[in-house]
Amino acid sequence: MADRIPQHIAFIMDGNGRWALSKGLQRSIGHKYGIKALKRTFQYVFDLGIKYMSIYALSKENLKRPKEEIQTIMGLLDEYIDSSLPDLLKNKIRLNIMGDISILNDFSREKVNQALKDTASFTDRVLNIAFNYSGRDEIIRAVNLAVKEGHKELNQDILEKHLYSAGIPDPDLIIRTSGEQRISNFMLYQSAYSELYFTKTLWPDFSKKTLEAAINSYSNRHRKFGDIK
Ligand code: FPP
Repeated sequence: MADRIPQHIAFIMDGNGRWALSKGLQRSIGHKYGIKALKRTFQYVFDLGIKYMSIYALSKENLKRPKEEIQTIMGLLDEYIDSSLPDLLKNKIRLNIMGDISILNDFSREKVNQALKDTASFTDRVLNIAFNYSGRDEIIRAVNLAVKEGHKELNQDILEKHLYSAGIPDPDLIIRTSGEQRISNFMLYQSAYSELYFTKTLWPDFSKKTLEAAINSYSNRHRKFGDIK
């Protein structure tokens, strides 16, 4: 494995629909296999000692999709929280949610809130899920929260405290699958100096090998953060 590994990897898990259609299956089946890939990836990431993992599970813009597909993804969040909570607790990984979960039904929202409470005391490692999330909205929300608190002028410190990701370092590496090469309103503020890695692999096929290729690429990059060194 590469010598220099990122401490925070974010995933734009793209290509579930195309994966399913290419196999003559419904798009929703692609999302179900997407969850399998997510569970495998969760294991690889935390086994490598990476402390923070972010995933883009649903964008606000995805809500334009047919209702049935959105219902499937909501159901998968429910199932994912159920099946992953024991792992989060066992490995002392805090769950964090970015986005507006008021769209969930009472039962699912309660479940997510309970999982947030149950893992709230863990400080070392975080699984960060973007759900019904928009990077632009997150920034506007942060500004509004700060203004409501009485701040007349903001700085980076104040703004960052009001982002959904408060307390989580910026992603070092953002991986997008399926060959698309854009950020799609994901962690806009936090990705200022993230290294980007694009792979043609469709998310349901994402494997340890794909992850290792991304981390190897990352470890060979020279991050300057605007400096000349
Ligand atoms: C992009 O594939 C993927 C999504 C919009 C959702 C990602 C969701 C999952 C992996 C499952 C849900 C996860 C949780 C934790 C609830 P796409 O449908 O845009 O694929 P396409 O570009 O091939 O159509």
